[in-house]
This record gives sequence, structure tokens and C-alpha cells, in this order.
Amino acid sequence: MKALDAQHYLLTVSLRREAIESFDTYPFSLPVVRNLKSLELHPKVTFLVGENGTGKSTLLEALAVACGYNPEGGTRNFAFETRASHSPLHQALTVSRSLKRPRDGFFLRAESFFNLATEIERLDAEPAPSPPIIDSYGGRSLHEQSHGESFFALLMERLSGQGLYLFDEPEAALSPTRQLSALARIHDLVCMRSQFIIATHSPILLAYPDAWIYSLTEDAIERVAYTDTEHYAVTRSFLNKHEQMLKELLA
Ligand SMILES: Nc1ncnc2c1ncn2[C@@H]1O[C@H](COP(=O)(O)OP(=O)(O)O)[C@@H](O)[C@H]1O
Ligand SMILES: [Mg+2]
Repeated sequence: MKALDAQHYLLTVSLRREAIESFDTYPFSLPVVRNLKSLELHPKVTFLVGENGTGKSTLLEALAVACGYNPEGGTRNFAFETRASHSPLHQALTVSRSLKRPRDGFFLRAESFFNLATEIERLDAEPAPSPPIIDSYGGRSLHEQSHGESFFALLMERLSGQGLYLFDEPEAALSPTRQLSALARIHDLVCMRSQFIIATHSPILLAYPDAWIYSLTEDAIERVAYTDTEHYAVTRSFLNKHEQMLKELLA
């Protein structure tokens, strides 16, 4: 597919430090928040990587809320809420945008895809003049599909390009082969002027070439090259000498 011009929707996300009373309490105590000044986003794909607990999901959720998405995930039209609250981080974020507005959008939270499936069923059970929502997800209830199948249906059927897509660990449900297919689909959507921000641990997804990878650590947020990520290095050395590494690990 021939790429259209790269489409920035979001340019930067920055933290208004003066809006924060104390960095001692959650979520402001998280390394990602303490280290965040201004994060420039790639026009195509921006990845967030880092150890469990560094705050990738918290940042992604705050960005989603600041952009008008439901903190539980979904498109901007979903407004259901099954949890009591989300973090107040979004109130301290400034998101700078281009003049173009995305025509499509989706916030995928790994943990609440189930709730989204339930919400689609609830909405479709109500009388409405419009076609059922599930039709735009391929027509089959997301509850009747495996986690991987339903996420794949979302990716292939529901997302239509010219979109802003925020994904939290989309690989969680996907086999390695499907991760490769997801990579190809992400590329198609990029060629249709979409912008992605993805928190991931997947050494497969991270290989996408037109992307920036931000590594979140205790001390900093740094842009790193794909082959310099721990994900690449660890996976590579494990696969190259798994017998030797297992001997050491399991000794
Ligand atoms: N409501 C909350 N109150 C206090 N701490 C929380 C809350 N939600 C998440 N945390 C903590 O914030 C940290 C960062 O969580 P998260 O953003 O999910 O990290 P990541 O996605 O990078 O693994 C975790 O240690 C988690 O326990
Ligand atoms: Mg997370």
C-alpha cells in the first residue's frame, strides 16, 4: 500500500508540573510522571516500553482521557464506566494537536476489552434506528470469540483509518503469527493516515520501522533504537542459546 503523507494528530504530550501539588502520591509518584516533561510523538507510531509498574498504562489512560476517550476504553462514543475512578493525571497533561482531526479512534485497554464487549451487547439490545454496533466489529459477539479473535476482529473490521489509536499491550491476546499480522495491519492503517501510541512488551510489534520507542525507567524517559531495547536483546539471546540460558536459570 502506498503511504499517504504522515498524519500527526497529536504532536506532544507534556506535563504541567505547576499543576501538581505533590509528587508523593499516586499517580504523580510514578517514575513516568516524575520524569515527564514533554514527549514528542511520532506522526506514525510511538511505543512506550518499560518494566511492569513504571506507569505505561497510567500515562496511556491519562492521554486517552485528555483526548476525550472513555477511561474504560473504546471509541469516543463509549461512555460506560465500571470502575469507580481513573487517575487524575489527565488534568495535569497538555496535549498539543495538529489542525487535522482524526476521523476514527480507539483506546484499547488490555484489562477492559471484556467490559467493552458487554457494553456493545447492551447497546445493541436497545431498540435503535441504526445498524447494530457489532456489525462494525465483524458481526460476531466479541464474547463468543477468544480474546485474540475478538481483538483481531477489532483491528481488521472496526478500525477504518485516519484514526488515532491508543493500545495498551495489544499483543496480550495474540499468537506470534497474529502479532505479525497485527504489524501488517498497523502499517496499512498508518498508510491510511493513522497515528498509534502503543504500550507494549512485544519484540515483534516494536520492530515497526517508522516509530519512536520511549523507554520508561526509574530515572528517565529516553528514546531508544529497536535493537537497543531490552526486549530485542533478551529475546534474541534467549532464542539463540535457550538451552544454555535455561541451564543457568534453572540451576
Ligand atoms: N489507583 C491506584 N492507586 C495507587 N496505585 C496504583 C493505582 N493504580 C495503579 N497503581 C500503581 O501504579 C503503578 C503503575 O501502574 P501501571 O500504569 O499499570 O504500570 P505499567 O502499565 O507500566 O505496568 C503500579 O505499581 C500500580 O500498582
Ligand atoms: Mg500496563
